[in-house]
Amino acid sequence: MDINLRAFINRLESLPDNPSHDGLKKCLREMDGRQVSIDEYVNFSEQGYKRNVVHVSSRCEISVLCFQTGQHTPIHDHGDSIGVTIIRQGTMTEELFDRQPTGMIVSTFTRRFQTEEFSCVNLTTIHRVSNAHSEGLVMINIYFPPLTVMNFYNLENASVEKWVADYSGVKGT
Ligand SMILES: [Fe+2]
Repeated sequence: MDINLRAFINRLESLPDNPSHDGLKKCLREMDGRQVSIDEYVNFSEQGYKRNVVHVSSRCEISVLCFQTGQHTPIHDHGDSIGVTIIRQGTMTEELFDRQPTGMIVSTFTRRFQTEEFSCVNLTTIHRVSNAHSEGLVMINIYFPPLTVMNFYNLENASVEKWVADYSGVKGT
């Protein structure tokens, strides 16, 4: 692993519990300013967007997410995690949703993030992330605590599907 990436992981691990979005952004900005190499974690898949876990512990997770043109996540929340994303390459399209008292979700608005821009998720964020552009999309995500559970939503009914992370096989954790 790149020595600067290791230093970044150590910095994240030394943050106080429940860091703020601003605290996480500061760490990411510092890392990005040093152009820490994440090349070994940039992996695309023909099957769908790819989550490449760089580091996971009881406190936090760092993942590199890669989307080919046209690939997208399910509509999802982030369980008990907050997160900060920086776009390393490409343009991220984020569609946000609200959950109604009936349990149904409705689309609220869509926004785009370019290379070097940040986006954040909190405990109430429900969104769908996609790559609607011709260039590959690469983003670095930090989660506190690790993203162990996501709920998947759909626009047809109020049913929710639970996704549970499998971190077995992650190197260097
Ligand atoms: Fe997300």
